Amino acid sequence: MAAIAVLARVVLFLAVLVAGSVAVAQERTSERAQGEKLFVAQGCYGCHTVRGFGTPIAPDLSRIGAKYDESYLERWLRDPSLQRPTAHMPKITLTEDEVRALAAYLGSLQ
Ligand code: HEC
Repeated sequence: MAAIAVLARVVLFLAVLVAGSVAVAQERTSERAQGEKLFVAQGCYGCHTVRGFGTPIAPDLSRIGAKYDESYLERWLRDPSLQRPTAHMPKITLTEDEVRALAAYLGSLQ
């Protein structure tokens, strides 16, 4: 009986673990989808391209996630000139949620 009780606890623990990681994965997916929408809504595509979509004035971002990690991308989006004093990209007014969503989206482009 004791063994069954232990087994039940282990199964319950694993179920909670799996449910938790599925929830986290879903959250990441919706954050990226949100970021992809913001790429258009915030006018990023007016200067950048991602996989052929957009305007090739500024660097192509199709593989930007392989170049920078998300925390760098977040810092860049908050204020490009703080990362690179000579930056030509304007500072774009974004909420913290928008910064995180855009960085999650850009970080997934590898
Ligand atoms: C007015 C044009 C313009 C707009 C709008 C713009 N960018 Fe940029 N962006 C640039 C330029 C130019 C650079 C090249 C670095 C610099 O500023 O000199 C750049 C660089 C970047 C980089 C770093 C690229 C690299 O390889 O180092 C990222 C990431 C980026 N932009 C993301 C975005 C996102 C996301 C948006 C929308 C919120 C956006 N940009 C809107 C012009 C723009």
